[in-house]
Amino acid sequence: MFNKESIPFAPALIESMRSLGYSFESAIADLIDNSISANADKIEIFMNPSDDPYVIIFDNGCGMDEYEIEEAMRYGSKNPLDKRSKNDLGRFGLGLKSAALSQCRKLVVASKRMGKISAYSWDLDYVIDTGSWVVIGYEKEELNQFPQINMLDNVESGTYVLLQKFDRIEESTNNLEKTMIKHMDSTIDHLSLVFHRFLDEGIDIYVNNQKIDGRDPFLKNHKKTQLKRTQTFSIDGEKISIKPYILPHINYLTQKDLQKVGGKDQLRNEQGFYVYRNKRLIIWGTWFRLERKDELSKLARIMVDIPNSLDYMWSIDIKKSSANLPDKIKQNLYSCAYNAVSSSETVHSYRGRKVNTADNISYIWERIKTRYGYEYKINRDIPSLKMLEKTLTNEQVNLLNSFLDNLESNFPSSSIYLDVSKGEVKECDNKKTKELLVEVKQQIDYAKSMNLDYVSIINAFIKTEPYCNDDKLIEELKVMRNGEGLAGNV
Ligand SMILES: Nc1ncnc2c1ncn2[C@@H]1O[C@H](COP(=O)(O)OP(=O)(O)OP(=O)(O)O)[C@@H](O)[C@H]1O
Ligand SMILES: [Mg+2]
Repeated sequence: MFNKESIPFAPALIESMRSLGYSFESAIADLIDNSISANADKIEIFMNPSDDPYVIIFDNGCGMDEYEIEEAMRYGSKNPLDKRSKNDLGRFGLGLKSAALSQCRKLVVASKRMGKISAYSWDLDYVIDTGSWVVIGYEKEELNQFPQINMLDNVESGTYVLLQKFDRIEESTNNLEKTMIKHMDSTIDHLSLVFHRFLDEGIDIYVNNQKIDGRDPFLKNHKKTQLKRTQTFSIDGEKISIKPYILPHINYLTQKDLQKVGGKDQLRNEQGFYVYRNKRLIIWGTWFRLERKDELSKLARIMVDIPNSLDYMWSIDIKKSSANLPDKIKQNLYSCAYNAVSSSETVHSYRGRKVNTADNISYIWERIKTRYGYEYKINRDIPSLKMLEKTLTNEQVNLLNSFLDNLESNFPSSSIYLDVSKGEVKECDNKKTKELLVEVKQQIDYAKSMNLDYVSIINAFIKTEPYCNDDKLIEELKVMRNGEGLAGNV
C-alpha cells in the first residue's frame, strides 16, 4: 500500500464550482452575509451596468489583515464542522469565492485592518493559463486600477469586493446593460426580504446610494396582525423558537402592505414557515408538507429561529438557500402550524361578524363540520323564515324548503374558492341602519297583520345577522319592542 497525493486540476474544479446553482441575487446575499458577520453596520453595493459592468460590495466591518485575507481567498478556508460564533452567517469557507465566481470571472478583494490595506484576486483566465490554484496579490500602488477603491480611505477598517467579467450573464442576453439592471432590481427585492431583521435593527444597506428598506413579511407593525403564542423547544441543548403570525384580512391591507407580503396574487403561495438562521431568512413560504397551502390558511406565517449551531441537523446547503426539516422537530412544528392555520381560517370565516360572547347570535349561513369536511347550510331558525313557515300553506312551505335545499346543494364553493384565491370577491357593502330598519319594519308589520307574536319576533331579530351587527338598529328595535309595553329580555 502507498499514498499518492491527488490534487484537483484547478481549471476544471474551479469551473465546476461555479455551478452550485447560485442566482445573481443569492450570490450577492452570500457576500453580504460576510459583511454582516464582520460586524459591518453600513454595506454599500455599487453596480455599473455598462458594456463592461462591475459590481462592488463595500463594508465598514472589521476587515482582514494580510494573513486573514490570504486565508479568506483559499477555497475551503474554514472547516464546516468548526463551531462558529453566534453571529457568524458563514459555514463552509467557500461563499466569497463560489458566490462571486458563479456570476463572473474575476473577483478582487481588498481589505483594510489597522490602517493597512491588502488585496488579492481570483481570475479564472489566469487560473486556466497557469493551470494551478494561484491568486494574484497587489501592491498598494497597483490598487488604483480598481474602480472606487478610494472608499477604503474613508473607513478605519472594511472590505471591498469587486466582481468583473460577467461572462454568464453576457452569454445569456443581447442587452447586457439592461439585464444587469434587471438583476439588480430583483437583488434589491431579495435583500430587503432576507435581511429585513438586520435592516430593521439598524444595519444599512445601500444600492447605488439608495437605502434599502426592510420588507417584513409578517407586517408586525400592522395593528390587525395577530401574534399567537411563541413556543420554544430545545434540540441537542440548542433553542429553536417559533412565532406564529396571522396577517390581517386582505381588505385591511394597503398597496404597500401587499407589496411587503409578496403581492396579492402571492399571498396564498407565501404562507407557511419562514426559517431564519441567525436572523437571516433562508427558506420561506413552505409548510414542509405538514399542511396544504389552502386558501383559508393563506394568512398564516410562522417565524422559526434556528441557531447556526444546528446547521448539521438542517443540512444547510452552501448557498444557504435550502435546508431539510429533520424528523426530530417536525412534530413541534406540526402542532404550531395546526394552531396557526386554524386561526387564519377564523380570520377568513368570521370576518366582519360581531362576536357575541353570550354566544347567542343566529347566523344566516351555518358552517357545519361533518366527517368529510365542512358543509354550509341555511339556518332554518332565522325569524324571517320562521314567520314564513307560520303563514304559508303546507304546500308553500314544502316549495320553500325544496328551494332552500337546492340553494344549499348548489352552493358554488369551487368558483367562490377560485375567485377568493384571486382576490376577486367583492365583500357586500353593509346595509345602512335606515335600510335595515325599513326591512325589519315591513316584516314586523306583516307579523302583526298575521296576528303573530311580534315581540318574540323582534327579540329574534335582535339576535340575528345582519341586524345584530348594527348597534343603532338594535336600539331602535328595543324601543319598538318596549314601546309596545311588552319588554322582553335580550
Ligand atoms: N467582508 C468581509 N469582511 C471581513 N472578513 C471577511 C469578509 N468576507 C470574507 N471574510 C473572511 O473570509 C472568510 C471566508 O469567507 P467565505 O465566504 O468564503 O466563507 P465563510 O463565510 O467562512 O463560509 P460560507 O462558505 O458559508 O460563506 C470568512 O470566514 C471571513 O473570515
Ligand atoms: Mg461567507
